[in-house]
Amino acid sequence: MQEINDEKIKIEDVKPDKSLRILTGDRPTGHLHIGHYFGSLKSRAKLQDKFETFIEVADVQALTDNFNNPQKVKDNVTQIIMDELAVGIDPNKVTFFIQSMIPEIAELTVYYSNLVTIARLQRNPTVKTEIAAKKELFGESVTYGFLGYPVSQAADITAFDATYVPVGDDQLPLIEQCREIVRKFNSIYGETLREPVAVLSNTTRIKGLDGNEKMGKSLGNALYLSDDLEEIKQKVMSALTDPQRIRKDDKGHPEVCMVYYYHKLFSTENECKNICEECKAGARGCVACKKQLIDNINRELGPIREKRHYYEEHPNEVMDILMAGTEHARKIAKQTLDRVKKSMMLDY
Ligand code: TRP
Ligand code: SF4
Repeated sequence: MQEINDEKIKIEDVKPDKSLRILTGDRPTGHLHIGHYFGSLKSRAKLQDKFETFIEVADVQALTDNFNNPQKVKDNVTQIIMDELAVGIDPNKVTFFIQSMIPEIAELTVYYSNLVTIARLQRNPTVKTEIAAKKELFGESVTYGFLGYPVSQAADITAFDATYVPVGDDQLPLIEQCREIVRKFNSIYGETLREPVAVLSNTTRIKGLDGNEKMGKSLGNALYLSDDLEEIKQKVMSALTDPQRIRKDDKGHPEVCMVYYYHKLFSTENECKNICEECKAGARGCVACKKQLIDNINRELGPIREKRHYYEEHPNEVMDILMAGTEHARKIAKQTLDRVKKSMMLDY
């Protein structure tokens, strides 16, 4: 029996066990980019063989800060699933489901909301950072729904008795908040809910092509899994290189160059070694260097793009996958809700 009471663990530390469940999710607010790919999608594709895996499209959560743009949320539900399928997450192994189609999650959220104080939510570091970044949307006072989304996320996780929750480090305060809710619930109503453990999927955050710490559509600095070859070419050609390098024989500093940074993600170790040496010696042109990067990116993303293209042409298949997954997920959430209501003496 492995220790599952740690607050957080790394993916490599987890022994495969098909009887354990993992749950993770994404807000459908945009296509997935290379940061998601290296940060979570690749590890999901590995985890699906080790655990019973659930992936939630968190449309209810997405609405907490996009309530004024439901079309955007709706459009991105299938887009996100296409990205996931394209990288090799297998619908025969994984249960994909839509949050809003599981009303049991909403019910659990109501019950859990008694177990969390407003002050505690306001102190949640992730929530705090997000509120600060969304002044334009929320003005002086944040909505009840947004402030409470960690409670809803606790319902997402506990509805499925998830043991592990693979997330990036920005999500750790949300998992901690979930664990607190579980402990409080169990101490008041009796042992009912499982306390989840966060699994850090990847701690290195990938910078944008312009060197920005953050990647985003509006910044134009991200490579999307849905980008075609032309878009990749254009983005890589305008990536930030060593600004001190004007002529080809100027000695370069690969460590400040985003093209080199991306070579380290997509090119072989040997290639990287050569690039580094040639750049430093002033024996490498930036244009050729970028072209080599484009080829290597395309080698990795080309097959993903092709697979995505198949699903773009077959949107009904995507919907079928989502509907079948949601149906399965709902059965499990229903069992949890029944257990919760029984513990709370609401089993009339
Ligand atoms: N909050 C997560 C994010 O912004 C998305 C999410 C919703 C999630 N429900 C979840 C992640 C449950 C893990 C488990 O990316
Ligand atoms: Fe960057 Fe390559 Fe130009 Fe060196 S040669 S500055 S690594 S693009």
